[in-house]
Amino acid sequence: MAKLTEIAWEEFERLPLEAKRPYLENDAIPDTPYHTLFAQQFDRGLLERLAALANRIRFMAKSKEGALYLKSLLPHKRAMLYFSQPSSRTFLSHLAACQILGLTTGSVRDAATSSEFKGESKEDSIRTFSSYFDMIIMRTPEKGLAEHMAWELSNSSRPIPILNAGSGKDQHPTQALLDIYTLLRSFETKGGLKDRTVTFCGDLLRGRTVRSLSYLLTNFDNIRQVFVAPQQLQVPTDVLEILDAKGVKYEVSDDLRAAVKISDAVYMTRIQDEWDQSKGESARIDTHLFKFGAEELKLLPKDGIIMHPLPRRDEIATCCDHDPRAMYWRQMRNGMWIRSALIAMTFGFEKQIMCFGA
Ligand code: NCD
Repeated sequence: MAKLTEIAWEEFERLPLEAKRPYLENDAIPDTPYHTLFAQQFDRGLLERLAALANRIRFMAKSKEGALYLKSLLPHKRAMLYFSQPSSRTFLSHLAACQILGLTTGSVRDAATSSEFKGESKEDSIRTFSSYFDMIIMRTPEKGLAEHMAWELSNSSRPIPILNAGSGKDQHPTQALLDIYTLLRSFETKGGLKDRTVTFCGDLLRGRTVRSLSYLLTNFDNIRQVFVAPQQLQVPTDVLEILDAKGVKYEVSDDLRAAVKISDAVYMTRIQDEWDQSKGESARIDTHLFKFGAEELKLLPKDGIIMHPLPRRDEIATCCDHDPRAMYWRQMRNGMWIRSALIAMTFGFEKQIMCFGA
């Protein structure tokens, strides 16, 4: 269980994110997350353990013997996928991860089909899920809701872990985990994830994946971050303040081609127009210089990679899809492995999986 019972909500809410970490750990298994709510919970050691566990699960799942063993680990647990915002990959990869580990699942994909529509509070809905399930994987448009629900649950008579699968414009920690896993794998035989330049391009203001990944990258040595966006969608100051505080080098730019030339990874993102304050607000922004196409591909270094959390619109031209440096398809599949690792770790199966066959 998490130590969230030791602190009042009002006090917890006010803490800086890094100070919240100890309250979210599993008090029975040291250095293991119980609730996964934001990227600040993961340090380099934990990221490397998760990547090793994901590699192990990926390898084991290839053989019938390994797959059956994985499936035998968590048949006594059930996970609720509670998604009140659209999702394809995050939903399906969590679902597949549960299946790999033998968990059974239930889902709500539209609040209109649950009792919330009849006026039930979020707190009551979550308490209801915790009566039937052993983990909640949740996506919401509301910033901080997963955090509040985690506190509620930890202080209830049936605490269960929450995984934040995307909260508002704010955080998407499991996406950042799969992004880091993809970067680690891509550079594994090429000197590792250090001394690299990572360029973020697109809607950096409202893209929650950028905030979470930018933070996780600060765990690695000498990773320079370049933020390329139209001025109206540039990276928010809270992200830059963290980089300043950690002494991370970064650049804010509007020149994608110049950034691509010096990048080891280019992380493209979609314009998040669902957050527009007025109709057509995003459409009025000139975004034509913030797309990755044949010209950008020519400029990308030979060992550079192109990433995207997906879904994409036209910010990466389909002519890039077959280039070996296009990593977005593998990135998507990596999500299934790293989420399997996170769920297995949360339920205390890290050692058992790592020791399989030893
Ligand atoms: C992202 C999200 O939902 O924040 N998608 C995802 O989870 N893979 C990015 C997006 O919607 O643009």
